[in-house]
Amino acid sequence: MAEARRKIIIDTDPGQDDAVAILLALASPEEIDLLGITCVAGNVPLALTARNARVVCELAGRGDVKVFAGCDRPLQRPLVTAEHVHGKTGLDGIDLPDPVMPLQDAHAVDFIIETLRAEPPGSVTLVPIGPLTNIATAFARAPDMVGRVAEIVLMGGAYFEVGNITPAAEFNIYVDPEAAAAVFGAGVPLVVMPLDVTHKALTTRPRVEAFRALPGRLGPAVAAWTDFFERFDKEKYGSAGAPLHDPCTVAYLLRPDLFTGRHINVEIETEGRFTLGMTVADWWRVSGRAPNATFMGDMDAEGFFTLLTQRLARL
Ligand code: RIB
Ligand code: CA
Repeated sequence: MAEARRKIIIDTDPGQDDAVAILLALASPEEIDLLGITCVAGNVPLALTARNARVVCELAGRGDVKVFAGCDRPLQRPLVTAEHVHGKTGLDGIDLPDPVMPLQDAHAVDFIIETLRAEPPGSVTLVPIGPLTNIATAFARAPDMVGRVAEIVLMGGAYFEVGNITPAAEFNIYVDPEAAAAVFGAGVPLVVMPLDVTHKALTTRPRVEAFRALPGRLGPAVAAWTDFFERFDKEKYGSAGAPLHDPCTVAYLLRPDLFTGRHINVEIETEGRFTLGMTVADWWRVSGRAPNATFMGDMDAEGFFTLLTQRLARL
């Protein structure tokens, strides 16, 4: 008996890697029922993330997907963006036409709340792949939402891999540490894809060429995005290619066996002078603090890229 399709909301700040995560979800309709895409300010300002999410949906021929604009800045801090990584548009690497499909009128946070209220409790998974501002705002505005969420599978944080935007913090958490603290402290079942695993999801020439060979416009776009995206990590880490951070979340929904981790306590630093936004992951279980997250530590990168390429070929 096939597993029931998993209902998800992707909360995102596209970004080339977000784009690949969205495409992977759209390419997997047997397993994933994408209820909507909610956009948040992060890699680039909200107007661009809300544009980019629709550009990606139209690239996949899915102008029917409901896309919502959400919070345009963190809960308490000024917005920090990452044009130095993703380019001015957030989807640099290839010029794609402005979207024709509309943005939904409702605010993303209202959509999250209304959807969680309308769907049976425990049937909707949230997949945040940007700063956690929308999710934290939904929980603050409607605390009864916490008990209705099936699971949160997010990209963010780092432990052994340390930070990518500061020496201590990963970008999604660093942009809105207060929002992250609220989400990690909410008590919702939480699966975390930190840099510790996403830095193992590295593109290589053969992997990018496999993307480029995909049918239609999709192949050249995905290859162009990863070509653009990889230059930052190559320069900084001397790594072989681009880390496909965000698609690790959707890949987990499809093939959880590709990932291994530990159920541990993870706290968010919201006051540190040098460590603001750090995910303090108690990997060795020395704190005595209650576990609140399944924090991934390793992945089967070859299996991930095989899954990703096979699925994208369907679009
Ligand atoms: O640190 C990586 C994360 O920050 C990814 O989600 C990437 O898209 C950026 O948002
Ligand atoms: Ca992202």
